Amino acid sequence: MNSKKHWEAVYGSKSADAVSWYAPHLQTSLRYIQRAAPDRHSRIIDIGGGEATLVDDLLAAGYENLAVLDLSETALAATRLRLGTAAAAVQWLAADVLESDFAPDSLDVWHDRAVFHFLTTDLQRRRYVQQVLKALRVGGHAIVATFGPDGPLQCSGLDVARYAPEQLHGTFGAPFQLMDSTTEIHTTPWGAPQQFTYCFCRMQER
Ligand SMILES: C[S@@+](CC[C@H](N)C(=O)[O-])C[C@H]1O[C@@H](n2cnc3c(N)ncnc32)[C@H](O)[C@@H]1O
Repeated sequence: MNSKKHWEAVYGSKSADAVSWYAPHLQTSLRYIQRAAPDRHSRIIDIGGGEATLVDDLLAAGYENLAVLDLSETALAATRLRLGTAAAAVQWLAADVLESDFAPDSLDVWHDRAVFHFLTTDLQRRRYVQQVLKALRVGGHAIVATFGPDGPLQCSGLDVARYAPEQLHGTFGAPFQLMDSTTEIHTTPWGAPQQFTYCFCRMQER
């Protein structure tokens, strides 16, 4: 699996808007989060949030219980700096999603854009799904975005697995009800198209 060292090197050498996954706003993510969690007290985590502006937009939308988890302390520090005093309202977790000890039933929304696709073994994928099953409350929502079947084979120089919506949903399994999915084209800062798949699921049982 990709290491902390890799990600620290990436964020230590590139600005937030110079990485392939940069978008000024993660509109599809925002739309699904607001659909999953109209209540501004909802407990929401952005897995592998990096330097994305999603947390800025969620704060601006009035969300009060936000957490951002990422392997890279450099990325989290840059995001905190950008937010200024508003950063104090967010929980910052420098950790590996596969190794974190999430409190059971502690989340209403689990969001991940472009992290799950780095898991290239069944063991890693099973571990990830176990983490979601543990951390989400029953009735909570998982929003996961990966490269689509026509997306690139690598992201940040690392191999990825690519998914159509039904494959991505299938990986999560029966406890998750597929509410909606989206295939969209993300354009990198240098103009290259990248196909993404989003799945929006409700965890109906554990
Ligand atoms: C391609 S970037 C996506 C960043 C952000 N989600 C976005 O859409 O702009 C992948 C992010 O996941 C983080 N990451 C990779 N593997 C991770 C892991 N096992 N646990 C936590 N974070 C991880 C990286 O540090 C990086 O910030």
